[in-house]
Amino acid sequence: MKFFIDTANLAQIKEAKDLGILDGVTTNPSLMAKEGIKGQEAIYNHYKTICELVDGDISAEVISTDFAGIVEEGKKLAAIHPNIVVKVPMIKDGVKAIKWFTDNGIRTNCTLIFSAGQAILAAKAGAAYVSPFIGRIDDSGWEGTELIAQLAHIFTVQGYETEILAASIRNANHIIKCAELGADVVTSPLESILALLKHPLTDLGLAKFLEDAKKTA
Ligand code: G3P
Repeated sequence: MKFFIDTANLAQIKEAKDLGILDGVTTNPSLMAKEGIKGQEAIYNHYKTICELVDGDISAEVISTDFAGIVEEGKKLAAIHPNIVVKVPMIKDGVKAIKWFTDNGIRTNCTLIFSAGQAILAAKAGAAYVSPFIGRIDDSGWEGTELIAQLAHIFTVQGYETEILAASIRNANHIIKCAELGADVVTSPLESILALLKHPLTDLGLAKFLEDAKKTA
């Protein structure tokens, strides 16, 4: 399973990269706004900086919702860097645009996936990735990781090449469940990645080893 970081914060991207486990980055308009980045030029420059920082797929999201607008915007985003993957929302014009991008050699990540039906449509249109939002499904009273299991099964049975990119990760257990259930990629905030490191018995065990090491000094 590949590890992407779900942020537009450069310091957090660097920290995940320095850990040596980072395969890519996902962003969205909310994450860009959180960093205070405003205006198309600043946003595109920020994507370029991220692409220069991380050697992997970088998802950049369109904000148009009509076919022509999504295509025009996606072409501009894809021109920023070869590693840009155009993130397109799961709407009717989005599916049409994903098919257009597929036919024209531009890779896409279909975002805001909440059901197997939506993921099947995106895969049929040729999306490189589908992004099921498991934390938001949990928030709505369902079990988000069940969608990951369902998609892993369907994509295997159908032989889809589209990768399942689990998004809206809220904790370390989400990442572990995604690995167990067959997600191809997990995109996560830095906090949840770092939480994978933690176990109280590791801390206790290390303290004891270091204490005993003093006896052998
Ligand atoms: O990048 C999309 C997704 O990961 C959003 O997560 O926490 O806003 O539900 P969240």
